[in-house]
Amino acid sequence: MKTVVHITGARPNFPKAAPVLAALDQKVDQMLVHTGQHYDDRLSRVFFDELALPEPDLNLNAGSGSHATQTAAVMVGLEQVFTERRPDLVVVYGDINSTLAAALVAAKLGIPVAHVEAGLRSFDMTMPEEVNRRVTDQLSDLLLVTSADAVGHLAREGVAAERIHFVGNPMIDTLLTHLDRFDEAAARKQHGLDGDYLVATLHRPSNVDDPAAVRQLVSVLHEAAERMPLVIPLHPRGRAGLEKAGLDASSGVKLTDPLPYTAFLGLVRGARAVLTDSGGVQEEASVLGVPCLTMRPNTERPVTITHGTNRLVTPHGVLPALDAVLAEPPATRPAPLEKRPPLWDGAAGPRIAEVILSWLAR
Ligand code: UD1
Repeated sequence: MKTVVHITGARPNFPKAAPVLAALDQKVDQMLVHTGQHYDDRLSRVFFDELALPEPDLNLNAGSGSHATQTAAVMVGLEQVFTERRPDLVVVYGDINSTLAAALVAAKLGIPVAHVEAGLRSFDMTMPEEVNRRVTDQLSDLLLVTSADAVGHLAREGVAAERIHFVGNPMIDTLLTHLDRFDEAAARKQHGLDGDYLVATLHRPSNVDDPAAVRQLVSVLHEAAERMPLVIPLHPRGRAGLEKAGLDASSGVKLTDPLPYTAFLGLVRGARAVLTDSGGVQEEASVLGVPCLTMRPNTERPVTITHGTNRLVTPHGVLPALDAVLAEPPATRPAPLEKRPPLWDGAAGPRIAEVILSWLAR
């Protein structure tokens, strides 16, 4: 049997990897590595419990640090694993530092790489994720893409067409699998909500690291919360900066720790709108049919604008956009299949498995 090693490291990787591991079960010899980039139970453990992911075969405990420190720690750990195991394929997910580290190590050892969620581009090289995506794609043998625009980006960067496979979005497989467990009534009860409410998440360096930017956003969030209660699950990154900039539980703001997967999506499902700078939330809100205001100048996921509920907003534009959303009649929830991005249908995992299996058998 061929050996496939999957590399995961941080919260957004887990819902992407789960359907791929499930679809390849018994068909290849699989090994799941957790790099330990996220080590907090609330960003890691809870996902393994909820998504029925197998226990990682190995945790590298790479932990936090500067980009170089973290990427290097993952590389050193993986070099040993890949050298001992000599897998037939390494599968990497998304755009985090662990993704890039794994692709670099595998490529140098001559081990083929498959990149799930290849080809997304924000064209903003100040985002660490954009650097990670571009390099990972150049090093990958199989580019598994979630949206048609990604095919175009890869083609323009010189990637041969036979390496690019438009397979859909495995994170949406996970969302649709667990849809019945996204309980908005439970979320209301947990956060003491009755009536309409908003949800916000904020963790990008560009929003939470610069004191002036974060002060402006915090004041916008407090103003938004005057319209209706606003629940903010706080990612550990940026929590201190947000609180220093004045974010507190006043004027309708409800602060919570990071939430488990189903609790978070239950909360989003019932929300009037979501304000975010996350990549994944733009996709999840679009499929749930919940209006999404993305507090960023760009998105690598434009399909959530053309085929979803997402719109980009500047800090000044948040409140006018929110008022426009609140004036609109609510959309159907979840979004019906024909209103979702193409191939976001719950079958991306099996399509990815098919591509991988026929590639391994070539
Ligand atoms: C990482 C990804 C980002 C993704 C995000 C999802 C990179 C460059 N960034 O960002 O693309 O959107 O995950 O959550 O890979 N921390 C904890 N506990 C943890 C992990 C981190 O407290 O378990 C804190 C530490 O202070 C750490 C900081 O968060 O220094 C940043 O963690 P890191 O893994 O570097 O990046 P994220 O901001 O989580």
